[in-house]
Amino acid sequence: MDFSELGHTCVVGMHWGDEGKGKIVDLLTEHFDIVVRFNGGGNAGHTVMIGDDKFALHLLPVGVLSPGKMAVVGPGVALDAGRILEEIDALAKRGVIVADNLRISDRAHLVMPWHKRQDVLSETALGSGKIGTTARGIGPCYADKMYRATAIRVADLLNARALREKIRQVAAFKTKLLSACYGDTERLDAEAIADEYLGYADRIRPHVCDTTCFFWQAIREGKRLLFEGANGMLLDVDHGTFPFVTSSTTSAIGVPAGAGVPTQTIRTCVGVTKAYTTRVGAGPFPSELTDEVGQYIRERGHEYGTTTGRPRRCGWFDAVAARYAARLGGLTHVAVMHLDTLTGLDRIGLCTGYRTAGGDLPGVIADAAVLEQAEPLIDYLPGWKQELRECRRFDELPPAARGYIERLETLVGVPITIVSVGPERNQTLIRA
Ligand code: GDP
Ligand code: IMO
Ligand code: MG
Repeated sequence: MDFSELGHTCVVGMHWGDEGKGKIVDLLTEHFDIVVRFNGGGNAGHTVMIGDDKFALHLLPVGVLSPGKMAVVGPGVALDAGRILEEIDALAKRGVIVADNLRISDRAHLVMPWHKRQDVLSETALGSGKIGTTARGIGPCYADKMYRATAIRVADLLNARALREKIRQVAAFKTKLLSACYGDTERLDAEAIADEYLGYADRIRPHVCDTTCFFWQAIREGKRLLFEGANGMLLDVDHGTFPFVTSSTTSAIGVPAGAGVPTQTIRTCVGVTKAYTTRVGAGPFPSELTDEVGQYIRERGHEYGTTTGRPRRCGWFDAVAARYAARLGGLTHVAVMHLDTLTGLDRIGLCTGYRTAGGDLPGVIADAAVLEQAEPLIDYLPGWKQELRECRRFDELPPAARGYIERLETLVGVPITIVSVGPERNQTLIRA
């Protein structure tokens, strides 16, 4: 695969997030000019290893780590202004300067303190039926965006008087709402919130622009855009395992709306998956392993959340979900991550179907309650004992590992062009 020939490209997760998108975006960035976030917000946690340095980015596009590249936060992102500034400051302490290489859309919606509060209160109220959100205020922020009357955008930050007035109105409304619905006794202090956000405004302002004009110009100049998807396709608000999903469009379908580029812009779509499957938070996960094999994968793969530190649920590769993602997302390439993590297992399972008492399911069906009950149909393939992290070419992998990847490729139906055998940039095998 020759990356230098790729047109505008999008990288998306094929399961429930944390597939290793950060590493792939970082790897591809050298072949692009602009890296763009188009969905999600601080719920994302994208890890990049550069030598021994580990970076975990939540709101900043991974492109900020590559000198000479532009990074853009598109209108579809739920922007936590305080957090993105914290990220910028943390990077500065490590010698990575984010200055005029960052653009932020004036149309992006702001995550406000009441969004985070509502996220937590709502989850508590749901009890055992909770979604298991990241508590970053994502759902409430996007809900307000759709509701409009109570939404606040980056553009509003730039008008101090109007912002203060808007915050007064919305804070009064939200105080009533949270008190009536959840018995919350905390009053939202509108003046303090306005002061806090006006402080952010001074620092955000230099980055703010109409990013659609920026892209239009860049595309005319022949610049190449790389779109960095957050979350995963099974967390998509329309097509994921609803209601155990996030609140944005997580696939390439989300790029035109979430970035503000014409629909036909995306030429290539790289789906990222692990060689097994993980999920954080609640919701159906038919191939989950709750035994010592799941534990083995969790420890070898360091499967603890980048954003919340929660242990990730681990299971066999869910080929049903991956095939669904491949078809829905129009994937042109697949990157399989963490093959190294599976070393040492006697046999490796692959989930090829879902079975319920009522019969086999046709795929990722709409009803999460039925999916919850589904048993996985598992095919076993032989494992391997050799550590893979030093492998640099596909043909250096043990035959069982090669056979495993080839089987995945057949099941998913899309060429697997990248195989990752470790978190670092050079621990990557490119297939023709
Ligand atoms: P993202 O949200 O999709 O960007 O993924 P995360 O960064 O949340 O989680 C992926 C984790 O796996 C990170 O800690 C990466 O450093 C790590 N990682 C990525 N690829 C590999 C790989 O091939 N092998 C191993 N062992 N770790 C990897
Ligand atoms: P990256 O980009 C893993 C999950 C949460 C929860 C559900 C809803 O790092 O892959 P939300 O806070 O969005 O309302 O939570 O979605 N979730 C993720 N899981 N990786 C992510 O992002 C996620 N973003 C959201 O755990 O189950
Ligand atoms: Mg992550």
